Amino acid sequence: MIFQDKNISILLIEDEEFDVRRVKKTVEPFSEKMEIVHFVSNGKAALEYLEENRNKIDVVIMDYQISGGLMGEDLIHKIKTIDSSIQIIVITKMTINLSDYHFANRLIKAGAFWYCTKYPGDIDDFIYQPTDFILSIFNAHEKSLLERDRMRSMQKIKRNVADILLQKKIIGESPLMLDLKNDLDRLAQSNINILIRGASGTGKELVAHNIHYRSDRKYENFVVVNCGSLPDQLVESELFGYEKGAFTGADKKKPGLFEIANHGTIFLDEITELPLAAQVKLLRVIQEGEIEKIGRTETVKVDVRVIAATNRNIEQEVREKRFREDLYYRLNVLPVVVPDLKKRVEDIPSLIDHFLRNISIDMGKEKPIIPNETMQIFVKYDWPGNVRELKNVVQRVLFHSGNTVSPMNAVKALGIVYETGGGDDGFKDIFNPENIIDLKDAERVFRERYFNFVRTHSVSDADAAKKMGIAPPNYYRMMKELGLK
Ligand SMILES: Nc1ncnc2c1ncn2[C@@H]1O[C@H](COP(=O)(O)OP(=O)(O)OP(=O)(O)O)[C@@H](O)[C@H]1O
Ligand SMILES: [Mg+2]
Repeated sequence: MIFQDKNISILLIEDEEFDVRRVKKTVEPFSEKMEIVHFVSNGKAALEYLEENRNKIDVVIMDYQISGGLMGEDLIHKIKTIDSSIQIIVITKMTINLSDYHFANRLIKAGAFWYCTKYPGDIDDFIYQPTDFILSIFNAHEKSLLERDRMRSMQKIKRNVADILLQKKIIGESPLMLDLKNDLDRLAQSNINILIRGASGTGKELVAHNIHYRSDRKYENFVVVNCGSLPDQLVESELFGYEKGAFTGADKKKPGLFEIANHGTIFLDEITELPLAAQVKLLRVIQEGEIEKIGRTETVKVDVRVIAATNRNIEQEVREKRFREDLYYRLNVLPVVVPDLKKRVEDIPSLIDHFLRNISIDMGKEKPIIPNETMQIFVKYDWPGNVRELKNVVQRVLFHSGNTVSPMNAVKALGIVYETGGGDDGFKDIFNPENIIDLKDAERVFRERYFNFVRTHSVSDADAAKKMGIAPPNYYRMMKELGLK
């Protein structure tokens, strides 16, 4: 690990010629591995050189006391600001009051990698015990490589977060949405649990994403849990995990979603669907920051921010004793309301435009034009399924129209969402004598519309599953298969 092939490039900052010679002589036997590529006699020149030769220097060797004013901790700080991966070795004169522990500590705190005291002036050939000196240069180089690696992966993560935020951009400039967007950074920074309320399809999950990826937890996990899709008997093992042998069939231990979200955020969607027993445990996590894994006597500490969401009247759930009051108060510290689309009709054109652009790109189509009269039809429509419905309508519009979206296209796209079934106009693509499609495709078209239709007319996924007469996990899986989740 230590004697790697790469040459180590050193910048020397030293104003006494005698010491420059001594440093050079000390590293000379290792000239194949390291090279003093440049030397300067003052701090200002050092900074100029580093600014102009970025990524060239791995290690700086600097004398503590140099002329020119800029020296010591101040100089260390400034070098580190230019490139924090550069490692600095400080050499100082051997004087009684300087060579103490506190002084060295101050240098390290300022960002130096290592510190050594020069040999007395009667030793001509070395600046310091040569083996120690060379080893510390190798170690400094090793650290600068690690630091560069770390910086590169950090940059990647940062770019990913920026990408996610771009992808999860909240469209809408209506006063209601501007208020909400203005609050986002404050909400994100607060680190307090949040309850997001709003009708189905208004954008609650989107808001939750934005809160997490703007918070200090943004580099940690964001775990989404749809409480309505977990079967009652599995809720606790999913959320809190279990130990090996906790029950028959637990052949290995399983981390709960709270452990996976540790240091990050958990998004509990459809929170009112959580069974009462799991509500008690959730309260415990929020209050004590600890989870009780099944089959384990001691608790496990976790640090997770909870963002919950609901489209139900949660106060009524509390009154009817289906939702714990204490948990409600714990979650509802900072309530956030995502308004219905019909309360912000100004946003409809920009949302349509946004989805038209994005979905056209996905479909490899040119984005069609929407004449004003067509847009008016969309603006006047009621949007009971809110933005989700709008997105589905845009998808349908793109499926059926050419370069321009005619008012007729719009009416049809809106109508189809409300179609209750049957072999009429709404299913022309299935019942088209000119183009009979195979059973698999026909079923898919039907399923997609049916699922969209039922979801648009349900208050939650759990509600939709119930109306369809299927178990929530199956519903969830099918939605995923259809690309609707
Ligand atoms: N303001 C917005 N800008 C851009 N996209 C949006 C906006 N609001 C919602 N969407 C998109 O609409 C779809 C539905 O939003 P989301 O899933 O966040 O709604 P929700 O309130 O969680 O719905 P539900 O109550 O049904 O779970 C998503 O694809 C989301 O990205
Ligand atoms: Mg949701």
